Amino acid sequence: MKQHGTIMPIITAICISFIAGCAPKPQPITAGLVKDGEFDPKEWGKVYPHEYESWLKTKEPKPAGKSRYKRGWDTDKIVYDKLSEYPFSALLYNGWGFGVEYNEPRGHHYAIIDQVEIDPSRTKPGGVCLACKSPYHKSLTEKHKMKYLSAKFKDALGMIPAKMRETGPACVDCHKNTDMELTTNKEHLKRGLEMLGKKDISRQEARTLACAQCHVTYYVPRDRKMKVASDVNLPWTESSWGDISIENIIKDLLTDYRRVEWKQKATGFAMPYIRHPDFEMFSRQSVHWQAGVSCADCHMPYRRAGANNITEHNVTSPLKADLRACSQCHTESATWLRGQVFAIQDRTVSLLNRAGYAAAGATRLFELVHARRDAGAAIDSALYKKAKSHYMQAFLRIVFVGAENSTGFHNPSEAKRVLGDAIAFSCRAEALLRQLLAKIGTDVPDMINLELAKYLNNRGEKKLNFKRDQELRDPFGIQKYFTSDAAKGY
Ligand code: HEC
Ligand code: HEC
Ligand code: HEC
Ligand code: HEC
Repeated sequence: MKQHGTIMPIITAICISFIAGCAPKPQPITAGLVKDGEFDPKEWGKVYPHEYESWLKTKEPKPAGKSRYKRGWDTDKIVYDKLSEYPFSALLYNGWGFGVEYNEPRGHHYAIIDQVEIDPSRTKPGGVCLACKSPYHKSLTEKHKMKYLSAKFKDALGMIPAKMRETGPACVDCHKNTDMELTTNKEHLKRGLEMLGKKDISRQEARTLACAQCHVTYYVPRDRKMKVASDVNLPWTESSWGDISIENIIKDLLTDYRRVEWKQKATGFAMPYIRHPDFEMFSRQSVHWQAGVSCADCHMPYRRAGANNITEHNVTSPLKADLRACSQCHTESATWLRGQVFAIQDRTVSLLNRAGYAAAGATRLFELVHARRDAGAAIDSALYKKAKSHYMQAFLRIVFVGAENSTGFHNPSEAKRVLGDAIAFSCRAEALLRQLLAKIGTDVPDMINLELAKYLNNRGEKKLNFKRDQELRDPFGIQKYFTSDAAKGY
């Protein structure tokens, strides 16, 4: 790092002062003025107007053109379609909601609104989908159990008091009403921390766990008929604090039928899934985690509001907030920091393309093998089994990095490690399938036609189509050696 010698003492001093709690003087806390059991942020806002007004701003579009890879709900009002950004994912996810409509996030204000507006295939599991959205999830689960969890999504929404039906992450999710100390409001996180064996939580850790309530991966447990069986769970059984690896997550997810959530159309494989593993990726030995930095440090910096310093509650991409949060610790210019973020993300996107297209090719070969098998060809089952196992390993790694929200920034070296392995697993699966097909006399062309148009167009109730201008192509131009545009078939 440039200026290493000068920055470290400053950073260390600032980090220590954060941990010691001597950050800029916050707004005075008025204990006891928010009623017990008060869910409505408007009521909390009567006591803490600055934070309330800041929180309301997650509704507003953010400046366009500042983020390269996390565009969406900016002043250009474009909703970015992840399947168009990464066209290979339309083939990989085809078979359930994520392959129909999958958008870049907008902001906390839209957490429930987006669920109501998205293709209904995405909220098919029902009430359980409100786990990472509504502050009422915990109390409704306690009160109605499966009647709420497996209720049709609209019916579950109807169990929330009318004026709060569109309220996403709320004060009560992160704060105790009595003294405004940080807390959490999700039973799945409590169960998760027990799996990790984590007990004492420092203030700095609480500033991360407030976000880890929702920015973690989970599965919706199923019965043998793939029907919802309970509240969401975290696949953390094999892990420990600061070390939730993709290897451990995969081990957990592949243990039994309860984690199998959908069937991939092209291959017919029954599969688990991974959603927004922001906390897992960040906390696995990233430079910032090791330095004691929290999610709130970068996404909720202090700022002035009248005579007070407040915590920014308009949570968004630091790039869209001009990297003000970073300058609490870094002396480099915003331009330099932005350049570093982009350099990390460009490399992640390049490898994500490589891994995604390699897996997409293997997917098509499985289709071919299945067609030959159905026509009576004798398939080498040892090769097939090995190829399938490698494919699953690759697939889950691709979803892991693809669903993580920072395009690699939260943990640059880990993201690249995981993608490197995804590429190796995919390519080995492809090699085994080619060998298998050669044995039954089926010739496979060098570049496999992925026929992505079939999966990208005419999706769901809105008949969504591929948006070519949103595609995130390999910034280094290497992908064309392996997948030409013609081979993409879009
Ligand atoms: C109760 C669940 C919940 C909690 C708690 C939560 N988030 Fe979110 N967050 C979401 C959901 C859901 C979305 C996507 C909303 C949408 O686009 O519909 C989101 C989106 C975001 C975004 C994208 C915003 C944008 O402008 O595109 C950021 C950044 C973010 N969260 C950071 C955080 C941080 C940092 C914390 C902790 C201080 C946190 N979140 C706590 C559920 C939560
Ligand atoms: C060192 C600073 C830093 C820390 C710590 C950090 N983030 Fe981020 N986060 C970023 C940057 C930079 C991006 C990339 C934003 C972009 O590309 O526009 C990002 C992106 C995101 C996004 C997507 C934003 C969007 O607009 O779609 C979410 C969600 C998010 N972070 C959540 C978290 C959570 C949860 C944690 C803690 C587990 C966390 N972040 C820790 C810096 C940080
Ligand atoms: C996603 C989690 C989250 C939500 C939702 C949230 N806050 Fe906070 N809030 C924080 C964090 C993190 C801090 C910093 C606390 C710390 O460092 O101890 C904070 C700090 C505060 C403080 C202390 C003073 C300050 O500004 O630092 C007040 C008061 C506050 N929030 C009020 C509110 C109100 C009112 C709402 C609802 C309108 C709300 N918060 C919603 C996470 C959240
Ligand atoms: C609370 C303090 C703190 C905040 C806030 C913070 N950083 Fe850092 N950052 C550090 C420390 C400490 C290191 C390690 C320094 C070193 O080893 O040179 C670091 C290292 C880095 C590195 C080099 C290592 C890597 O992971 O690539 C980059 C790039 C970086 N920070 C960017 C950012 C950006 C961008 C933001 C804002 C979104 C940010 N940081 C916010 C403390 C912070």
